[in-house]
Amino acid sequence: MTEKASILLLNGPNLNTLGRREPEIYGSATLADVENAVTRRAAGLDATVATLQSNAEHLLVERVQAAADDGTDAIIINAAALTHTSVALRDALAYAALPFWEVHISNVFARETFRELSYLSDIATGVIVGCGPVGYELALEAAIAHLRPPA
Ligand code: DQA
Repeated sequence: MTEKASILLLNGPNLNTLGRREPEIYGSATLADVENAVTRRAAGLDATVATLQSNAEHLLVERVQAAADDGTDAIIINAAALTHTSVALRDALAYAALPFWEVHISNVFARETFRELSYLSDIATGVIVGCGPVGYELALEAAIAHLRPPA
């Protein structure tokens, strides 16, 4: 790992509407709020954060592929609905072979049963579910602890 940890924060379909989308489930924080909070916290942990939100599966796949070679140390991903459908995203994450944390703002196990299936969880380093937007910051803390284990 280079001196500063390089973290890639990915968000999938519809998360661009955070803050307006079903606020009773996802809360009032916007995606910009989430990205700013993670970036701020990363600065205090000597880490940098690159972000991408996309509604397009192939753009997320291509960004994960690129992360395999661009110095990214770890990925934090809320794949949103693609969690429950995307073998392609799973295969890209397996290819990149980087530690990654799967985040869900809501408790997917307390909702419709189709949300209980994740194509990512069994190859994720960690999974953070149902903690609200702070889950992204918890994933960052976990990633840094993983990359720089206490002596
Ligand atoms: C989500 C849960 C998914 O089931 C859903 O499709 C989302 C958001 C979450 O953050 O709770 O878009 O990943």
